Amino acid sequence: MKKDIYRDRLEAPLNEKVLNFISSIEDDLWIAEEDIIGTEAHNLMLYEQKILSKNEIKKILSSLESIRKKFLNGQIKIDKNFEDIHPFIEKCVIDEIGIEIGGKLHTGRSRNDQVSVDIRLKIRNELNKLSEMLIDLIDVLLDLSQKTINSYMPLYTHFQRGQLGVFAHYINNYIAQIIRSLERIEEIYNRINKNPLGACAIGGTSININRMRTTELLGFDGIFENSIDAISSRDYIYEVLMCTALISIQFSRIAEDLLIWSTKEFQFIELDDQYCSVSSVMPQKKNPDTIELIRSKSSKVISNLFSASMMIKAVPSGYFKDFQELKPLLTNSFDTLFSIIEIFNIIFKTIKVNEKNMIKTINQSYILALDLAEYLVQMFNIPFRISHKIVANLVKQSSNPKDIMNKEKIETLILEIYKHKIELPSDFIETLQDLELCLQKRISQGSPSKSEVKNAIKALDKQKEAIKIKYLKRVETIKNATKHREDIIKRLIA
Ligand code: ARG
Repeated sequence: MKKDIYRDRLEAPLNEKVLNFISSIEDDLWIAEEDIIGTEAHNLMLYEQKILSKNEIKKILSSLESIRKKFLNGQIKIDKNFEDIHPFIEKCVIDEIGIEIGGKLHTGRSRNDQVSVDIRLKIRNELNKLSEMLIDLIDVLLDLSQKTINSYMPLYTHFQRGQLGVFAHYINNYIAQIIRSLERIEEIYNRINKNPLGACAIGGTSININRMRTTELLGFDGIFENSIDAISSRDYIYEVLMCTALISIQFSRIAEDLLIWSTKEFQFIELDDQYCSVSSVMPQKKNPDTIELIRSKSSKVISNLFSASMMIKAVPSGYFKDFQELKPLLTNSFDTLFSIIEIFNIIFKTIKVNEKNMIKTINQSYILALDLAEYLVQMFNIPFRISHKIVANLVKQSSNPKDIMNKEKIETLILEIYKHKIELPSDFIETLQDLELCLQKRISQGSPSKSEVKNAIKALDKQKEAIKIKYLKRVETIKNATKHREDIIKRLIA
């Protein structure tokens, strides 16, 4: 049987090896349902424009609907003799209802605008799923943050113990990054959610189509005006890959934090046994494989962006088959990211924060050095540069952190360096060493003081709720368009 539906220009059928080389049919399964939905919307519009008769649209839609159901139930076996999903579905319809009517289904469009519609519809759903998962993750993190407001922890720069903080402050920093990613998703979603259908191959069509109507039927927010832009631009894919790559970079860094904090050298956190592996030979080991894999899997999401850059950068305006290779990058990036978020979600739900060890580290460090310097500035009006010098010398002369908490030594150095005789209050050292008091004094906005951390949790929760409302609106718009379309289809098929 001749499978091809439009190869008449050439004499020979496609060589089998070449077919395997150029075919995207397996990758296209990712957009199979979207392809049918797009085709239904296009044909509904053709009917409303009186290009198809009532009988014709009834047959076409019935066939598309039955193919869709069979697809979802796994009853349709993909025929690998097809170059891609688009002619395959067209051929399924033609086989079912004949060329007389089925042959009208592709009127006024091309695979070029078709594939772009399909991918946009799919991206919309994937971005919504991504948003939902990120919002869920934020909820888990907010919970953890709430529980660790009082968990004192060293804050590091250059991997050196820098300042006193709390565990919740690190968690809030993760949440803030995820919220920005959610905002980024919202922005790109709005740009991607435009209708390219009707651009046809590259220069529009003489068929009296109605682009606004397919826009409405598919829940798009406006059309791509320029027909070249509509079939040629791939920034809508690139932006998604940029966004997923950026999220992966953020997640990879979070994984790195967890990895370090869970080492025996740190022991700030402990991962639940469920998420760790063991060694086949060293009986004592508990390996955080999950986090290591988050780090390496995110590399793949980042490389997908690089691959896309290479694929797109030298393609002239217009459609070229190069674009076909972008689809698996998207599939891979989304799926990888989904799996990462899933793992993070359960890891953060079950993580054990080891407050005792963090306090131990704090006590063994010079972590209050800056607080001491600022204290001298505020109490005795010593210029900061001089007070910095006093504390630096104090550190230099001491062999362990306790040594800098010595009233007499501090007074001596003040006299030596600042040339003023200052007597420190008798409770000076006591107040300085009180971690609670120390953080209370960090009054700057966004600091890890208890009140600031509490404020941050409230503010982050509010930001999350605001972005959630926008996400829910996106989902609602798609739902409404789907219902509108399905109601019409039901009526026409009945
Ligand atoms: N399989 C193609 C893709 O994924 C569909 C569009 C084909 N268009 C064409 N003019 N060959 O990009």
